[in-house]
Order: sequence, then structure tokens, then C-alpha cells
Amino acid sequence: MSLGKHLLGIKDLTKEDITLILDTAEKMSEISFRPIKKVPALRGKLVVNLFFEPSTRTRSSFEIAEKRLSAESLNFSSGTSSVLKGETLLDTVLNIERMNPDAYIMRHSSPGSCKLITEYVKGSVINAGDGASEHPTQALLDALTIRQKKGSFEKLKVLICGDIAHSRVVRSNIHLLKKMGADVTLCGPATMIPPYIEKMGVKVETNFEKALSQKDVVMMLRIQLERQEKILFPSLKEYFLTYGLTEKRLKLADKNCIVMHPGPINRGVEMASEVADSKESVILDQVENGVSIRMAVLFLLLQGGENEDSN
Ligand code: CP
Repeated sequence: MSLGKHLLGIKDLTKEDITLILDTAEKMSEISFRPIKKVPALRGKLVVNLFFEPSTRTRSSFEIAEKRLSAESLNFSSGTSSVLKGETLLDTVLNIERMNPDAYIMRHSSPGSCKLITEYVKGSVINAGDGASEHPTQALLDALTIRQKKGSFEKLKVLICGDIAHSRVVRSNIHLLKKMGADVTLCGPATMIPPYIEKMGVKVETNFEKALSQKDVVMMLRIQLERQEKILFPSLKEYFLTYGLTEKRLKLADKNCIVMHPGPINRGVEMASEVADSKESVILDQVENGVSIRMAVLFLLLQGGENEDSN
């Protein structure tokens, strides 16, 4: 069994695809702890990291994953490129395409931009976050972390709280968690909950304390001030008072509840520092799993160079 050519979103994956990626990532994880942290799996492949938005975790873990698999990397940041001189996304891609890469990892503010470039390139395209649409490798690394801590997804009670409207992480996580059998509740101020989101098979609860009851997993999301056209709540202080995860509030969840956050965290806004650094927090496990998930995705898409046009 193998994946298709591209990874544009979790929406396109089956439960079996997701399990294959998680199992492959588990096998890959020990490579990072060898004295020589490298295998020749992707020797001779060229991967372009095309980032039109800032990133710490996604970008660095993709770069490390490429190195661990012996691929060559070309790192492109829009802030140090001819994008600043007015070059468009498509012109940028068409120029880089002449350097014959095997894969593009792309982050861009426009939903659908990763799908768009698949029509212009020969290699695989991996979505590293496209606007508020999807961030598939984030949901996969979240899933690996949940599976390691909880064993399985079936009937797991997951609460995702924060800026639902602007989050690509939430969309990928809803697709993944629902496919794997989890029970998903969303929470946040009504101004940050998109209409009709229940159609994705989730529950919505705007009272955070009520929403926390009996949850096995609490995933807090960053307030994306840079994507909000108008202020959606009175102040950051007020947001924390109503929706901030504190030690006291965490006690309302299941006693073995884990706390997640895709990062970057705004301490004192989405959660108190004591919670971010608590024994319940698996935030740095998520980051560690990011390398093995990205190794697995690169390996499964590029192995053997047999990229069929199946996606
Ligand atoms: N979670 C995440 O995508 O983080 P970065 O923006 O740092 O890549």
C-alpha cells in the first residue's frame, strides 16, 4: 500500500493511509537517536522548502527530516527572495521547477495554493499550511502524539479550543480525528466559531468550563491576530479570563487528560505558563514527533521515485 503523489490535506486520506503514515513514523523515530542520524532512503532527491509565511517548527522539522533521509534541500523564504520585487507565486514556482526538484513543501497564506501548484510541477507537493484551509502534517504529528499517550482514537473525547475560524490546524485535526473514531468538541467565543462547522461532525460549546468536562485530550489553539480583520474579543486579558487554560480549569477534564498546542504558544493568552510546562502538557512531544511524521510522509511519497499521478 502507498499514498498518492501529493499530500494536500487530511480530507483526501483514508483511515488506512493515516495508520500507514503513523506506523511508518513510529519506525522512523529511532533514526533520530542513532549516533549517525541518517539513512540513504532519499539519496539524490531534491526537496524545495517553499515558505511564504513564517515558521519555526514545520520548516525546521521538514529540513531535518530531509537531512535524516539523505535528500538535498533548497530553502526558500519569501522574505529574502524576489517575491519582494513583485514576483508572483506561479512565476517563482515555474523558475524553481527548471531546477528539477522532486518535491515541494509549501506554506502560503492562500487556501488552495498548494493544489494550484500541482498543476505546474512534476514533483510531489506537500502542504505545510495553506491559509485557514489545512495543515496535514500538523494533524498527523498530533495524532501520533495522541496514539502514543492514549493508545487509540476510538471514542476518545477531544476538545479543541481557541480561534477556530482562522485555524488550518483545526480543520486537518477534525478530518483526522473523525476518520479515526474520536468524539470532537470545539470551543471558543461565538465570534471565532464559523457557521455550519457542526456539519463536519463536531459538537460546539462556547462555555469553556462546561466543554472541559470529562475530556481526554485538550488542544488549545493560538489566537491568530494577524488573520483577524476585526477584533473578535474585547482584550487578550479578557480572553484569558474566559478561555485561558489554567491549572484550576484543567481539573475539570479527565484526570489523565493531556494538553496539546500546535505552537507557537502565547503564554498567558491561550494557557497559563504552569499548564504549558505541566506534566499533562505534551507540547514538546508534538514537536519531537514532527520530525518522524515528516520523514514518513517524505519517504512514502518519494520512495523509489515512482510518483504516479494518482492524487
Ligand atoms: N505548528 C506550526 O505550524 O508551527 P510553525 O508555524 O512554527 O511551523
